[in-house]
Amino acid sequence: MLNWLVTGGAGFIGSNFIQYILSTRSDINIINFDLLTYAGNLNNLKTVENDPRYTFVQGDICDRQFVDAVLRDYAINTIVHFAAESHVDRSILGPMQFVKTNVIGTATLLDAARDYWSACSAPLVGIRRFHHISTDEVFGSLKPGEPAWTEDSPYAPNSPYAASKAGSDHLVRAYGHTYGMPVSISNCSNNYGPFQFPEKLIPLVTLNALNGKALPVYGDGQQIRDWLYVEDHCEAITRIITDGRPGETYNIGGNNQPANLEIVRTICRLLDEMVSASKYRPHESLITFVQDRPGHDRRYAMDSGKLRQELGWAPRYSLEEGLRKTVRWYLDHQEWVEQITDRTNYQDWMQKNYDKRGGTVK
Ligand code: NAD
Ligand code: DAU
Repeated sequence: MLNWLVTGGAGFIGSNFIQYILSTRSDINIINFDLLTYAGNLNNLKTVENDPRYTFVQGDICDRQFVDAVLRDYAINTIVHFAAESHVDRSILGPMQFVKTNVIGTATLLDAARDYWSACSAPLVGIRRFHHISTDEVFGSLKPGEPAWTEDSPYAPNSPYAASKAGSDHLVRAYGHTYGMPVSISNCSNNYGPFQFPEKLIPLVTLNALNGKALPVYGDGQQIRDWLYVEDHCEAITRIITDGRPGETYNIGGNNQPANLEIVRTICRLLDEMVSASKYRPHESLITFVQDRPGHDRRYAMDSGKLRQELGWAPRYSLEEGLRKTVRWYLDHQEWVEQITDRTNYQDWMQKNYDKRGGTVK
């Protein structure tokens, strides 16, 4: 059996990834290492909590001694590093936590892995891998008509979140280059799907619409993201870890590029159809334009050609299919939703981020 340490496995993508691995592979034990910040949620992992191949360990990736002990105690072969502060708006209101978790945390994990693997009798390169999950936001923002980013595009991060992820990417690359560590990096576009924390656009709009609340669209709503259904991301990561070349970076994108306003309208249309008795139909009437995000990136687009050519990966879900499954999932998981939205720290965040933005109903 291979022992994979998944950091941030109680978050949105990490928990989808753990479920994906345990349902598609029988040769892997998963050790989920997560601090359980506001974004970490063990309710995401109910389906696997009794699986003998799954272990949960609560801990901080910045805690070197504890990371050392976990690597040793579980004889870790592979690290899949998701743990991060992930929300751009939170990074604007409080950047230092992002520097700590995303930069110092990644450095701590890398250094611990280097020491642990160097001390093992087996060679450093072989069955081992440190795979770092990163974002397309490290590349900055595209102008209309500019080609999608490739792995060779220059880094130009704009938000504190993006800059902290860029810093972590550079550290991973440097550890590979300097120490010969078997690292790989994937830079992915916007994910959506089940278990996404309802601070991000798609779950937030779905839940607000369901409850007849304003749907806050930043600025003119013409910003473009390259949406990818989370299961497609999990498949891409798995292929990179198992068949991708160490030392390489791979871009992952969905090739879907409608503007935010169109995404919001599509969710409204799906809800009109799925909740046909709702008193809030047409849900579009809840759309409200609010003050923009400072430094808001205008457009992202990823060229996944390298991943397609080297590893045969392509997304399986169209945007319409993925959104339909996602909206359905939120409708069917009200208990999961309420366990988050009832918390005062969630309500405090909503107030802090939205109260000062004002708004004009469409
Ligand atoms: P998330 O915010 O839902 O989850 C982050 C997880 O990390 C949480 O479970 C949290 O408890 C854990 N965590 C935070 N600090 C920690 C620490 N110090 N020690 C241990 N665990 C800690 O994030 P997500 O959306 O699932 O994103 C996962 C990763 O994927 C991040 O690295 C993010 O930058 C990257 N990414 C996200 C997207 C996206 O659209 N969500 C796209 C591309 C890349
Ligand atoms: O591109 C990948 C990134 O996607 C990841 O690295 C991040 O971890 C992830 O959070 C996501 O970042 P975004 O800032 O793009 O996601 P978010 O869902 O916050 O916003 C998507 C778009 O919608 C963005 O243009 C801002 C806009 N938006 C967002 C919110 C929360 C709104 O218009 N209104 C909102 O209330």
